[in-house]
Amino acid sequence: MTDLADIEAGYLKAIEGAGSLQELEDIRVRAMGKKGELSLMMRELGRMDPEARKLRGQALNDAKDRIAAALNTRRDAMEMEALNARLETERVDVTLPVMPERQGSIHPISQVMDEVAAIFGAMGFKMAEGPDIEDDFHNFSALNIPPAHPARQMQDTFYLGGGDSGEPRVLRTHTSPVQIRAMEAGAPPFRVISMGRVYRSDWDQTHTPMFHQVEGLVIDRDTHMGHLKGCLESFAKAFFEIDSVKMRFRPSYFPFTEPSAEVDIGCRRDKTSLIIGEGNDWLEILGCGMVHPNVISAVGLDPAEYQGFAFGMGIDRIAMLKYGIADLRGFFDADCRWLGHYGFDALDVPTLTGGLSR
Ligand code: PHE
Repeated sequence: MTDLADIEAGYLKAIEGAGSLQELEDIRVRAMGKKGELSLMMRELGRMDPEARKLRGQALNDAKDRIAAALNTRRDAMEMEALNARLETERVDVTLPVMPERQGSIHPISQVMDEVAAIFGAMGFKMAEGPDIEDDFHNFSALNIPPAHPARQMQDTFYLGGGDSGEPRVLRTHTSPVQIRAMEAGAPPFRVISMGRVYRSDWDQTHTPMFHQVEGLVIDRDTHMGHLKGCLESFAKAFFEIDSVKMRFRPSYFPFTEPSAEVDIGCRRDKTSLIIGEGNDWLEILGCGMVHPNVISAVGLDPAEYQGFAFGMGIDRIAMLKYGIADLRGFFDADCRWLGHYGFDALDVPTLTGGLSR
C-alpha cells in the first residue's frame, strides 16, 4: 500500500507547487484522466480476489477524493489571486477627468440659465423661486389682472381643477407671480431674478406650450426707467458676448407695469438659421416696465415710497439667438442628434471671468 501513499503524496506535492491553472489541469489528467495513473490502477482491480479488491478499491477512491479536493482548493486560490491581481491593475482613479467621448452634454436651456444666473448674480441679483402650479392671486390678481380682465385670455391659460379651497389653479403663464412671492417673503429693497418653466396653450415655430422665462425685479426708493434700460443693455452685451447688440424698446402694455415696453433684438433669420448682429429682422425677447402702483400695494408696500422695474425674458428665445437655433420646437424633442450638436461640455461651468460659452 505504500506505493499508493507515495503516489498520492507525489500528486499533492505537485499540486502545491503548481504555478498555473494549466499545470493543475495537467496534473489532474495525469492522475485521474481516462489514462491517468489512478484510473489505470482502478482497472487492475478486476484481476484481484474479492477481499483484496474491496480494500484496494476503497483506498484508491479515498486517494482520488483527496487529490480532487487538493486540486479544487488550489484552483480556487489561484483564481482568487488572479482576480486580485486584475483588480489591482484595473483600479479606477475617480479623480481623473471624465473621458470626453463618454460624457453627456448640457442642454442649451440649462447652459443659458447658468449664463443668465452668472450675469445677474454679478450685478447683485438674488435668486427667488415659485411653484409651477399657481393660484389665481399670484398669477393674476396681485399682478393687477382682475377676474374679467382680457389679459387672462391673452395668455392662453391652462386651468387645473380647484384645490382644497375650491379656488381654480393654473399652470403659471409667466414667472411674474414670483415677483409677488419674493416681495411677500421679504422687505425692500428687492433685487431678484427667478427662472423656470411657464405654460401657455400655443404651438408654432417660435411658440411651445411650455417654455422658460427669467423674471427680474428691482424695487427701491428711487429706481427709474433709466436703470431698467441700463440693466437690460449690460445684460445683452454680456450675454451675447458682442460689443454692439441692436436693441429696440417698443412701447407696449402689461397690466402689472406702467409704462411698459417690449424689447426686440436685431437679427437675420431664414428657415434654418438665426444670426445675431446682422440683418434687419427683429426677435422679441422680453417684456418689461415700471412696476404698477397697484402691484406694490397688493404686497402691502406704499407705492408713494417704493417703486421699481420688472422684466420677463424668454430664455428659449435668447438661447435661439445666441446659438443660432432657428426652430424652438427642437429644444423639446429630446433628439440625441440635436443634443449632440447643440449641447455643451458638462465640465465647462459658465462664469464671467472664465467665459460664458466656449
Ligand atoms: N410677464 C410678462 C409676459 O410673460 C413679461 C413681463 C414681466 C412684462 C415683467 C413686464 C414685466 O409676457
